[in-house]
Amino acid sequence: MQKGFTIWFTGLSGAGKTTLSGLLHHQLQAKGVTNVEVLDGDIVRTHLSKGLGFSKEDRDTNIMRIGWVAHLLAKNRVPNLVSAISPYRVAREEVRAMIEKTVGHGAFVEVFVDCPVEVCEKRDVKGLYAKARKGEIKHFTGIDDPYEPPHRPEVHVKTDEVTPEQGVNMIMAHLKAKGLIG
Ligand SMILES: Nc1ncnc2c1ncn2[C@@H]1O[C@H](COP(=O)(O)OP(=O)(O)OP(=O)(O)O)[C@@H](O)[C@H]1O
Ligand SMILES: [Mg+2]
Repeated sequence: MQKGFTIWFTGLSGAGKTTLSGLLHHQLQAKGVTNVEVLDGDIVRTHLSKGLGFSKEDRDTNIMRIGWVAHLLAKNRVPNLVSAISPYRVAREEVRAMIEKTVGHGAFVEVFVDCPVEVCEKRDVKGLYAKARKGEIKHFTGIDDPYEPPHRPEVHVKTDEVTPEQGVNMIMAHLKAKGLIG
């Protein structure tokens, strides 16, 4: 029977979280894992976390809400892919603890989507870095707000060094090695 797990993509805006999540979703479907749910920060903030801003308190609230949903899904054997900047280590660790306690050790897979801020800024997929530099957006992670990288992520993808396909292969290899997929 399919095991439940959460793939938690963390990293700067433009690092590649949504890109990797989308590719992984495809790869899992190709492997016959069809009951995958995707929780993307941008979409979550228009529904589950509508009205929340980007203070530390609101960011942590957003992460705890996403984590709560992720843990319910994983508990019911629904693999889920979360993309959220999730800049604060303690918040990520709280979600990890909740999922490991409820679902089991290994069910929380933290993927550090690692890319230098200069490269993210050059990509500027959404034009947000330009706005942050002009001061039009305050509290922008990596510019005038902190990002705390994971100490021991299960998977560490340096997106300025590997292709998206190589990054997803690293995650698939981890899932196979841990028996989370066949
Ligand atoms: N190796 C790579 N892995 C992932 N994305 C890459 C890679 N190389 C280049 N890119 C590009 O970087 C961009 C990453 O944007 P993406 O929207 O996935 O970032 P994000 O982390 O989800 O940002 P946000 O937090 O703003 O949602 C895409 O345009 C993607 O094509
Ligand atoms: Mg994204």
